[in-house]
Amino acid sequence: MHIPANKSLVNKHILLGVTGSIAAYKAAELVRRLRESGAEVRVVLSAGGAEFVTPLTFQALSGNPVHSELLDTEAEAAMGHIELARWADAVVIAPASANVIARLTQGRADDLLAAVCLATEAPVAVAPAMNQQMWANAATQDNLQQLRARGVHPFGPTEGGQACGETGPGRMLEAADIVRRTAELFDTGALAGLRVLITAGPTQEAIDPVRYLSNRSSGRMGYAVAQAAAEAGAHVTLVSGPTALATPPRVERIDVRSAEEMHAAVLGRATDADIFIASAAVADYRPAAPSEQKIKKTTDTLSLELVRNPDILAEVAALPGGPFTVGFAAETANLLEYARDKLARKDLDMIAANRVGGGLGFEAEENALSVIDANGVTELTQAPKAQLARRLTALIAEHFRRRSECFL
Ligand code: PMT
Repeated sequence: MHIPANKSLVNKHILLGVTGSIAAYKAAELVRRLRESGAEVRVVLSAGGAEFVTPLTFQALSGNPVHSELLDTEAEAAMGHIELARWADAVVIAPASANVIARLTQGRADDLLAAVCLATEAPVAVAPAMNQQMWANAATQDNLQQLRARGVHPFGPTEGGQACGETGPGRMLEAADIVRRTAELFDTGALAGLRVLITAGPTQEAIDPVRYLSNRSSGRMGYAVAQAAAEAGAHVTLVSGPTALATPPRVERIDVRSAEEMHAAVLGRATDADIFIASAAVADYRPAAPSEQKIKKTTDTLSLELVRNPDILAEVAALPGGPFTVGFAAETANLLEYARDKLARKDLDMIAANRVGGGLGFEAEENALSVIDANGVTELTQAPKAQLARRLTALIAEHFRRRSECFL
């Protein structure tokens, strides 16, 4: 499916490192284009980069303060190198001078950008920009080879006329190409060709035409999983309760309101799915007989009779030849014990347990998951939901593949 160019980095945190090269002026255009593609951008400006372009330019274009100092107490208190390293979904160094490439190869941590690159789990890319002799030098080529072997992604360079008057390889890629290559970093292909069905958000259970029972789910976790699965190459159908969120690119979304509507939408599609991920906070009960008219306050107390909703996840897990099932468990206490109980009782392949409260789980920007299956527990430590969703998706892909191999 085609992703509109202006949507390819939606919800992504891109940390852009700008280092000492005449191409630093092109990084201003790059910041603009990254933001147009939907990314949030923070710039780390090296001392060399600051000789070419001022922090003010990047601050104005990124809409965020520019980071330069490693050992500045004020800067570290606001967002230090570890926070920046965790914040980033990808680190892109553009332009990457011969010097920064050499320093990354040595694993130095004596300036902010090098320290962030050491501390991050996110993919790191370098877009080299230098004189063609410097690029061709065996030292630079050896350094690049080592970085590539460690998983750093080289973006370019390309060939052409250079600022020094020479012609040859060493020109930085154009901003549009760097944006495209950055978006490709997230396209893992781990779920290529698979059909993934996901539930997200709360359900609303009608009391009367204007009132309902619901919960605090924002849908963020499920939408992040939907986006990560689509980026991993899956065809994703997202059955969503009411949320204020935009549909992630390449995701087909079905809107529902109540648990019964979600049940019908899921069961109608589950036999076609390879993987079912139930991240929705489905109401366990609904009013037995919603009033057709608005209920008037004529009495001091009011009782609502509630009846059980269907358990969507348990029904999907019980389908003969049904999909690989991943449940979520939201708990305020006894997290692992309750989650293990749900895994067994609903006969799931995997369950992602999250503790709710204390800034995690419902409504929050971040979460932490204990992912349980028959073989044990994998801890996915606290991170923004988008990052966590990518880690969860990779884990699901690995387990799904393992299970499929067992059936061969
Ligand atoms: O939406 P956010 O604000 O980002 O918050 C994310 C979240 C906390 C809602 C999410 O991470 C989460 O934990 N979702 C599941 C919440 C929940 O309802 O858990 P549960 O323990 O009640 O249900 C267990 C599992 O059964 C869940 O996979 C649920 O989707 C499923 N279920 C429950 C009841 C029901 N009638 N049908 C179901 O399919």
